[in-house]
Amino acid sequence: MIVLDKENRVFTLHTQNTTYQMKADRHSILLHTYYGPRISGGDLSDLIQYADRGFSPNPNEVGDARDYSLDTLPQEYSSCGVGDFRIPSIEFEPEDGSRLADLRYTGYELYRGKYCLEDLPAFWGGEEWETLVIRMRDTAAKMVVELYYGVLEERDLITRAVRVVNQGAETVRLQRCASLCLDFQRDDLDFITFDGCHTMERCPSRAPLRPGIQSVNSLRGTSSHHHNPFVILCDREANEDYGLCYGAMLVYSGNFQAAAERTQLENNRLVLGIDPYNFCFTLAPGESFTAPEAALVCSPRGFGQMSRQFHRALREHLIRDPYHGKRRPVLMNNWEATYFDFTADRLVEIAKGAQGLGIELFVMDDGWFGSRDTDLSGLGDWSVNLNKLPGGLEALVPRIQALGMGFGLWIEPEMVSENSLLYREHPDWALGVPGRPQTRGRSQLVLDFSRREVRDYIYGAMQKILDGASISYLKWDMNRSLSDVWSASLPASRQGEVYHRYVLGVYDILERLRRDYPELLIEGCSGGGGRFDAGMLYYTPQIWCSDNTDAVDRLRIQYGTSFCYPVSAVGSHVSVSPNEQNGRVTSMETRGTVAMSGTFGYEMDLSKCTQEERETIKRQTAFFKEHYGLIQQGDYYRLSDPFTAPFTAWEHVSPDGREALVSLVTGPTQAAAPFRRLRLKGLDPKLKYQVNGEGACPGDVLMEAGWPLPMPWGDHQSMQLYLSAL
Ligand code: DGJ
Repeated sequence: MIVLDKENRVFTLHTQNTTYQMKADRHSILLHTYYGPRISGGDLSDLIQYADRGFSPNPNEVGDARDYSLDTLPQEYSSCGVGDFRIPSIEFEPEDGSRLADLRYTGYELYRGKYCLEDLPAFWGGEEWETLVIRMRDTAAKMVVELYYGVLEERDLITRAVRVVNQGAETVRLQRCASLCLDFQRDDLDFITFDGCHTMERCPSRAPLRPGIQSVNSLRGTSSHHHNPFVILCDREANEDYGLCYGAMLVYSGNFQAAAERTQLENNRLVLGIDPYNFCFTLAPGESFTAPEAALVCSPRGFGQMSRQFHRALREHLIRDPYHGKRRPVLMNNWEATYFDFTADRLVEIAKGAQGLGIELFVMDDGWFGSRDTDLSGLGDWSVNLNKLPGGLEALVPRIQALGMGFGLWIEPEMVSENSLLYREHPDWALGVPGRPQTRGRSQLVLDFSRREVRDYIYGAMQKILDGASISYLKWDMNRSLSDVWSASLPASRQGEVYHRYVLGVYDILERLRRDYPELLIEGCSGGGGRFDAGMLYYTPQIWCSDNTDAVDRLRIQYGTSFCYPVSAVGSHVSVSPNEQNGRVTSMETRGTVAMSGTFGYEMDLSKCTQEERETIKRQTAFFKEHYGLIQQGDYYRLSDPFTAPFTAWEHVSPDGREALVSLVTGPTQAAAPFRRLRLKGLDPKLKYQVNGEGACPGDVLMEAGWPLPMPWGDHQSMQLYLSAL
């Protein structure tokens, strides 16, 4: 609910459990007055203290009122160059070369429903949303800044976006345009980021904010394996169930920066948006720029509640039809089974091995096209390699379908190998600066997706494939970071637009796919989880979580991922043991338990499984399908932290609390192990539950006294408890 106090120009955004407030003060400065647990309202600017602080300057119109300074007041969207020396939200340069932004409130608009963003992914919905638009203006440069707020009350979600319009007669260069700025008048916050590398993504890292700016970012052209565009600020003592925390995500798949600053007066500011490195948009008179959407959830009751609100909001209002509700297939992928070394007959043999095991989709991974026998060649030549697959997809797909499985295909549309027909014909289509040798990544170059003709060509090639055979799933991969970012289609003065235009180009093709093939299920991937972000989820309802398929490492990766992203987004497969990335030996049970907390599938040669393994797989796929709704749509509870606890446990609870699935994987084994109990969460304390079909255990007992853990026998054993209310 958005409450307006017109007279005092106070805007209060209430969600179910939180309140957010801003106010345009007497100088039309938009002050941020509150964000936290839900309160009744009023004008919280009364709580702001004014005091003269040395070297904190004063706007011209306040004369000698030295206690009024943009440097000390909490700002809703920080300006630059006019007295606030903390992180700016916006920077622009008119033709006079100045770099000032003095933003003053000019008006608002309020309506039911959710605002839309042109060409960018964004949360969607109808009457359950309210939108507030605040207009600000820099009078001298005639630049208008519109701040958009979407309020989804039930999910405690507040989305934000920013549109900048050049209303002047001069060209203006926009050098920074954050999506979100959040000032906190407190000094005791921890900053949590989700960091890692290829094959070890999104590991949480937590530290108290210290003086100065602490930031994570990506300059890779994608959101990256290294840092995720999702961060948390929280009380020092906040944990899963207690304490105030604020989660902030960027709905964007390119360069980003999340910067938190502890200021001279020991307050905090968070700014989230596109990284300013090599970002500069030229806005001619009348032109505008829209910054990607950001989304906030504040939870007064710890991380668990925050995550569950994000999960629900992403599932219900970001992932789109038909896959936000529809069950996704249990798949098998041939990558770790064959790598590049396969023929049609070999694939059919593997698919035969999967027959009768409950697998619903067969995915042919990298290596099916052009001269792609290794990762040194072929990218860009999207026609079937007829030596490997005689008769093409038209011949192979029916053979797979005859085994009772749908057919899915891997593709890496953004890339080109120098050893390819496409590159020989259009070397200038790859990103690169004339006169400079290009940097290779995985021996490949990046196509300039900021260019329409490049995208049209690639999309045409994709259409040919999709129209020529019955393909129900596409794995969209992306296996290197952007470098040599320069586009032949733009003049020197506009090269700062290429990074962002590239991302818009990716979104353009994904949107075309959605328009022309609405039933096609697309799984995003970038060497695993290198582009695991809400921007991609808008187009690809699931994303391959990591190239690391080891169940034990995955416990950590999936744990970190779960702070923001729902289980239904997490691409996760059972692969062979010893694992191909780290040599670890784990049981089929443990691998299944971990993989089914995701989209679930197998990535191994199922024709080589023993009879016992086949029976286990059959049980796993049947179990997963039976509890699909609970796992994918249920509420997710983290029961322990795999980075510190001797075991990892998590729980899916149905929204009515009558059903739950508890999964647990033990750590390294130990003799004389301590007696341990696992305290469950989210149950109805008054109900009695059967555990794996037996007994009648009260919910309060399971939550307060806990359930005894099995004695460890061997490393990384797993256990699942299915609870149903009597
Ligand atoms: C990286 C992906 O993450 C893998 O699953 C696989 O598709 C390879 N690329 C293929 O090159």
